[in-house]
Amino acid sequence: MSKPRVVLVGPMGAGKSTVARRLGAHWGLPVRDTDQDIEATAGKPVSEIFVDEGEEHFRALEVEAVRAALEGHDGVLALGGGAVLAEATQQALEGHTVVYLEVGLADAVKRVGLGHGRPLLLGNVRARVMKLLEERAPIYDAVATITVDTNGRTPDDVAAEVIRRV
Ligand code: S3P
Repeated sequence: MSKPRVVLVGPMGAGKSTVARRLGAHWGLPVRDTDQDIEATAGKPVSEIFVDEGEEHFRALEVEAVRAALEGHDGVLALGGGAVLAEATQQALEGHTVVYLEVGLADAVKRVGLGHGRPLLLGNVRARVMKLLEERAPIYDAVATITVDTNGRTPDDVAAEVIRRV
């Protein structure tokens, strides 16, 4: 059974997908992203899954996508921001190198921009990001083996710290 070199968790706007690509390039390892896996299987974007089938259905697909990726991928893995909410995923992450890319409200809002393609941010982006950060920070802390501050930093800089510390 293969195991990811590192699993990236953290909120929307933490830079998980970008940092994952940098890490993959540095280590010469494949990169996988659970949102992309879900989109490939469903044949439509995450935002459409939310609209057509609802968040609960998306979360069920996500638990399965994370489980499959943790077992069948030996490169760099980025999880969707809400994946760690599922207890099954929290348990599945035990024994993995989990890097929490931490981000504050100002940087997260700047990076998600208008929130296009992110259904949970529809409406007031700033208020929604703030609520998600508050609710989820303790969970990211609990599952992480390493925490990296991404505030005010470029993906290259963040990736370099991850490389130093894993
Ligand atoms: C979500 C984050 C998104 C995506 C979905 C829900 C969340 O992934 O999985 O829109 O609950 O935080 P990113 O963190 O890659 O944007």
